[in-house]
Amino acid sequence: MKKGIKYLVSIIIAVMIFILATNIFAIEKSRYTDATQTRQGKTYEWKNWCEEWEKIKNSPTQMSLSPGEDETQLNFAWYSKSCDVKPNLKISDNPKMEDAKALQVITTKASDEYKTNKATATNLKPNTRYYYSYTINGKWTEPALYKTKNTKRYTFGFVGDPQIGASYRNMNGETELENQDKAVRNDSFNWNNTIKNMIRRNCDLSFIISAGDQIQSGYKKNESYDHNEIEYAGYLSPCALKSIPIATTIGNHDENSENYSYHFNLPNKSKLGSTVAGGNYYYRYGNTLFIMLNTNNENIDEHKKFIECVTKLNKDARWKVVTMHHDIYGSGEHSSTPSVVKLRYKLIPILEKNNIDVVLSGHDHIYSRSYILKGGKLDKNDM
Ligand SMILES: [Fe+2]
Repeated sequence: MKKGIKYLVSIIIAVMIFILATNIFAIEKSRYTDATQTRQGKTYEWKNWCEEWEKIKNSPTQMSLSPGEDETQLNFAWYSKSCDVKPNLKISDNPKMEDAKALQVITTKASDEYKTNKATATNLKPNTRYYYSYTINGKWTEPALYKTKNTKRYTFGFVGDPQIGASYRNMNGETELENQDKAVRNDSFNWNNTIKNMIRRNCDLSFIISAGDQIQSGYKKNESYDHNEIEYAGYLSPCALKSIPIATTIGNHDENSENYSYHFNLPNKSKLGSTVAGGNYYYRYGNTLFIMLNTNNENIDEHKKFIECVTKLNKDARWKVVTMHHDIYGSGEHSSTPSVVKLRYKLIPILEKNNIDVVLSGHDHIYSRSYILKGGKLDKNDM
């Protein structure tokens, strides 16, 4: 692919194919998709999901996988009760968990009732099946499969703004929390089907990138903010996410909640670009450097420092991909807000100077992509 920046979504032909899953469920007239009116919602699947939802909605203990520092690593994060004496995680190359290796688990407080546990698997070989099992409140889970891939030619999925709980305004409950519960049940059903559709199109995804706004309730003034664990329960509910890591980006709905930092065990974390939820981070996968920016922090100097530092550390990377929540060239209303306009003018020279090839973003819930740009303008040689 010709060098130059392509914004929002692009295809790096030589090494990867993007699965464009954004907005499979996100857009209808009122930015709300009634799950019961979807193809799947008109079947027994909705009834089954409603029953399943009652079992998982009050339990924030589901596993969250994130990419490790490179393809040889995998990061884990999960909650357990505060009283759980010693949370464990083991990994093996066989489903019977014979000769399993116990990983070091680092545990910190998440709330009065729960703590968060994080671990990293290392030295993973390509094209290999691994199985992991972990304890939830003292009990080992059934082994889950994690299959490493060929890093020379690979596929990843891209989603933006799952924003689980966003349809609360369309619910007819009597209280804010009742609306939150119904909205999360609705949105999680759609989110599950989005992930299923993505995998149906390509069952060999190495990982998924999320351009932010994993959940809805990120504003402290709302009662639902204190109950946003129910939204994470919905976000983490797709079965496939027990076997495919997601590289999340911090959106404006995520940035103020520490719960984000408890649920996602991200590699190479930096203090640069920080908000309450966390800061910038990066990882390598094959010949590509993935740079994840928290653009809720509007300090451009911090992002500049981070991008320069990680590109210097990864000089051998053939491709450089930036993901950030705010859509500097989006086609929706958000792209003209002053903070996004500022990003457009201040960040682009830094991205170009550091030879970033592709920028992926979210925020507007509208799919669009640019031609290859040079100097912030259309590169006519690429038309
Ligand atoms: Fe957003």
